[in-house]
Amino acid sequence: MGRIRLLSETVASQVAAGEVVERPASVVKELVENSLDAGARKIDVVIRRGGISLVRVIDDGCGMDRDDALLSLERHATSKIRSAVDLQAVATLGFRGEALPSIASVSRFRLTTREAGAVAGTEILVNGGKIDIVRDGGEAPGTQIEVRSLFYNLPARRKFLRSENTESRNIEHQIHLQAIGHPEIGFSLIRDDRTLFQLPATATLGDRIRDLYGAELLQRLVQVYGATSPKMRIGGFIGQAGLSRQNRSQQLVFVNGRAIESSLITGAVREGYHTALMKGQYPVTFLFLELDPGAVDVNVHPAKREVRFRDPNGVREAVVRCIRQTLEHARADWQEKFHAPVQPARGASVSAKAAPNLSLRPEITAPETTHRELPHLGTAVTDPGRLRAPEIVGQVRRLPEHRFDSAGVAPALQSQQRDTKPVQQQFEIIGVLSKLYVLMENANGLVLVDQHAAHERVLFEELRRRMEQQGVPTQKLLLPQTFDVPPRDADWIEHNLSVLQRMGIGIESFGPNTFKIDSLPSFLEVSDAAQFMRKVIDDLKSASNSASAMRLGEEMIAKTVCRHAVKANDLLRYPEVEKLIRDLLDCDLPYCCPHGRPTMIQISLAELEKKFGRKF
Ligand SMILES: Nc1ncnc2c1ncn2[C@@H]1O[C@H](COP(=O)(O)OP(=O)(O)OP(=O)(O)O)[C@@H](O)[C@H]1O
Ligand SMILES: [Mg+2]
Repeated sequence: MGRIRLLSETVASQVAAGEVVERPASVVKELVENSLDAGARKIDVVIRRGGISLVRVIDDGCGMDRDDALLSLERHATSKIRSAVDLQAVATLGFRGEALPSIASVSRFRLTTREAGAVAGTEILVNGGKIDIVRDGGEAPGTQIEVRSLFYNLPARRKFLRSENTESRNIEHQIHLQAIGHPEIGFSLIRDDRTLFQLPATATLGDRIRDLYGAELLQRLVQVYGATSPKMRIGGFIGQAGLSRQNRSQQLVFVNGRAIESSLITGAVREGYHTALMKGQYPVTFLFLELDPGAVDVNVHPAKREVRFRDPNGVREAVVRCIRQTLEHARADWQEKFHAPVQPARGASVSAKAAPNLSLRPEITAPETTHRELPHLGTAVTDPGRLRAPEIVGQVRRLPEHRFDSAGVAPALQSQQRDTKPVQQQFEIIGVLSKLYVLMENANGLVLVDQHAAHERVLFEELRRRMEQQGVPTQKLLLPQTFDVPPRDADWIEHNLSVLQRMGIGIESFGPNTFKIDSLPSFLEVSDAAQFMRKVIDDLKSASNSASAMRLGEEMIAKTVCRHAVKANDLLRYPEVEKLIRDLLDCDLPYCCPHGRPTMIQISLAELEKKFGRKF
């Protein structure tokens, strides 16, 4: 007896909907993508109760005539591809011809649409996949789709929905993605009768980022630099070194205008940031990859969230290189700004500061018991005798010219200039707070430097430089040590022997699964070499499966410098503080420690003015 039956069209659609329509945000995604494909210039989205009760998407795109409107609700009906060949180079966001019938099969659905010159539009009402009403409609040209009571006929599905707040946030994120992906299109979102945003069409991605996330974020981004090849173009913005988030919500990646999730690309981004990113934190990226449509397969995920690259390694390497170059270039940019003359407004505030009429300052520093290690401000009021511990940072001296740029980070000083002439000073060390934070003043206001993080960065770059140039200096162990490892680790060590040796670890094979160490990098203080090696191997293995030799070395240095860097509570003498700051500013990436934590924070005069109620 036959047990196999053909599913009815409606049930088949509901099954298909399971893949495409996971939650209200997927409805929004599909509808907005359709609007974009229809050439809309403006897309308005209205949601109610997390989109569960209502999702409405209104566009001013090309609209459909009645026949097309009816066809659009059939499964496998699409205007976007015609044959399998077209699948090899999809240029639209949609191509499966599944979204509308899937959504209509699991909701109460209303479509109204009208072509620009048409006398009348069309309105179609669908309930759980069954067309109820088709009639003339009188809406403006374009298409409006309303999806009510999502999953009303699939209670099992409804149970998987999260709270209305969570679903709303998902929708918001979805529209952020589309809005960032298409700055030239106007977007608005109304949630439960409240307008969440209204984004005018803009000329540039930068404007869109500012409109959506604020000028402050835009200031902390750098434009992607220098990654164009005949095969691929990478553009967009990424966060400056040291800028990161606790989740992925601002890690946006687009391939040919399509927002995608790709572990390949996020891995490459992470690798590109390397020590400029804090552990467990996520970078901020608005990254746009453009490649030949034939080089990307978009037909690998039902919701089209993932893609497959024909040359994944090429893409990976290009992204890593691009992120690195961008961060390096950003630094050169800061350097340039650093050499630019001080802006008049800033200059005024600097000279005011240098003038001796600082009547408040002695009072500020007066209670010596509470400001012991902190010398007071400015040469004019300096009185070393007043300081309880003048040998520490007691003498306020003028440093050669340094200036911090407006983004709140310090450019490095070109060593040449520093060595030849002590030019006019542009920042000044005020003192050390809580034995940890170096306080400095620059044209912009106050700069706080974490002396421990700063020292880590300095040590890290110095060791890396040495490793690149001549290998790490090593120290012989009094007694060589042998140690055993499991076979898999043994393979890993064998494979990386030369790297480990370059890193200053004198290690060689000593029988199957046994190794001998007779020297270690001299900057290390290790009591049990074998135990140390096991830990290093664990760390490095998990840190960098496919990483290059150089990267492996960096990873290890980053992990070890921390133990050697100046700690919080280490009292530094003034010349040491000064040297530390100079060395820091000479680093390639002075703004964050090798683990990605910031080394310095700028608090601008404007911010202070706001805090003190002088300005609103
Ligand atoms: N907002 C719209 N404006 C104009 N035409 C639309 C709109 N939405 C859908 N259509 C038409 O309806 C067709 C079916 O839409 P549907 O989303 O179901 O499939 P698709 O976009 O072709 O593919 P996919 O399932 O991958 O999204 C589209 O190919 C398009 O021709
Ligand atoms: Mg579609």
